[in-house]
Amino acid sequence: MSTTRHQSRALPALGAPAAAAADGAPVPAGPAPKLHVVTFGCQMNKYDSELVEGRFRKSGYVTTDRIDEADVILFNTCSVRDHAEERTWSWVGELKQAKRERPDLVVGIMGCMAQRVEEEVFKRAGHVDLVAGTRQFHLLPAMVEELKARRAEPDRFRAKDLRLLATDMAEDVPVDRTGEEYTGGLHAHLAVMRGCDLSCTYCVVPKTRGGVRSRPIEELVAEARWYVAQGVKVLTLLGQTVNSYGEDFPAPEPGTAAWTGRQGRPSLADLLRALQAIDGLARIRLITLHPSYVTRALAEAIRDCDKVDRFLPIPAQSGSDDVLRAMKRGYTTDLYRRRMDMLRAAVPDIELGSDWIVGFPGETDADFDASERFLEEQGFVVNYIFKYDPRPTTHAAENLADDVPEHVKRERNQRMLALGERMGLKRHGAHVGSTRRAFVESVSDRAAGFVIARTTHNLLVSLPGDPSLVGRMVDVRIEGASAYGLSGALATST
Ligand code: SAH
Ligand code: SF4
Ligand code: F3S
Repeated sequence: MSTTRHQSRALPALGAPAAAAADGAPVPAGPAPKLHVVTFGCQMNKYDSELVEGRFRKSGYVTTDRIDEADVILFNTCSVRDHAEERTWSWVGELKQAKRERPDLVVGIMGCMAQRVEEEVFKRAGHVDLVAGTRQFHLLPAMVEELKARRAEPDRFRAKDLRLLATDMAEDVPVDRTGEEYTGGLHAHLAVMRGCDLSCTYCVVPKTRGGVRSRPIEELVAEARWYVAQGVKVLTLLGQTVNSYGEDFPAPEPGTAAWTGRQGRPSLADLLRALQAIDGLARIRLITLHPSYVTRALAEAIRDCDKVDRFLPIPAQSGSDDVLRAMKRGYTTDLYRRRMDMLRAAVPDIELGSDWIVGFPGETDADFDASERFLEEQGFVVNYIFKYDPRPTTHAAENLADDVPEHVKRERNQRMLALGERMGLKRHGAHVGSTRRAFVESVSDRAAGFVIARTTHNLLVSLPGDPSLVGRMVDVRIEGASAYGLSGALATST
């Protein structure tokens, strides 16, 4: 498991355009300019990349999987750990030569790192043309046009005028998908909110993504319907603290509230009920919840909405109250436990996932042991483990000494990973012998004649079956388990 959230891809050789005639001359470009987006980071970035691609397509572009044939290359970046940024810089660096050979190429950086370092990008990578922040990336097609217009008048514009930056955080990202075609298949992401209003001391996200902005329920239902009309059956609702959805809305007039959120505001519970009612939508998933916003209304909505997965990623980060306080997570282990008890009272078979940071400043052996015990006690089926990484400008980096030696961080990381695997095996094992509803997502690319499904607990299950099952809910008899998934056989299909 470890830190595999961040996608890794091999960078194809760059330099000359992909298509070249036998004599080496470039093949004349087709009528439509081509866009290639490289996405790092979390699911929110994947969603944003999709929005950007949609906007470029509307402006007459086609998207290409081949970076070497693109006219515009965008990097959608992540800042959460240093490693994520370093990888981006090295990818971006690889384009230097390509840019020299094709000066008309446009290279842009968007996403969290763009927002964090802003014009620093131009200093560190002189061949980058555009920088767009996390709430300005919808401007990118217009920025490209502006850049092209300036390039066409070399006498009027100096080199520094050929670099455009948009990092204002004040604006909302407008989402309008009418006229777009969704090409992502059965599954899609839907960002229901952006930003984070908390201030965990280790985290750059509030800085890179700004404060919470939730999107109105009607707008989200309309987008969900659009997805379903495009063939989507599984929606993953995204937010940094997705269950704080709606907290930022103004309180409704007294007496008018029909919603379950604070002071009658719309909440995630209301949104889930609205999405449950959409015909043709089969599954609803959630990423990422925060324990402080787990409410009874949410627990009841999950209980009542059979399309919502019985799996919730609710990162604990640590099992030590001292560390949680130093992290400013806003809860104790006891509060976390009570919230989960409430959830389990409404949905007894709920499965949980967690993220853990090991080696946070001041974390003692006893603190770490407490995290291990908490993982075991709560029985998290999926665990992502991260070694603490001091991020510039965060409270922890500026005020707390990074005092856990690297070899101790590494060892704790290994121990937590091993424990996470043992727990994964145990939790998966508990499903063996039962029959589970599961949504068939794809044909297995590892074993011929097998398909891959996800149970309503969001657990992967591989089973023999033909491709016609893909996109259907089936009943699977669970026969085997590993730390990461299940195996089984078709019981009946509907
Ligand atoms: N909003 C989510 C997490 C977003 S970041 C939440 O509150 O749970 C994803 C994960 O990266 C976090 O859960 C945390 O475990 C990890 N992370 C964030 N900042 C980190 C840092 N400075 N060092 C190590 N891990 C970090
Ligand atoms: Fe970062 Fe904490 Fe917000 Fe999650 S809740 S994005 S960890 S500040
Ligand atoms: Fe990374 Fe930004 Fe997501 S920092 S994890 S891309 S919100």
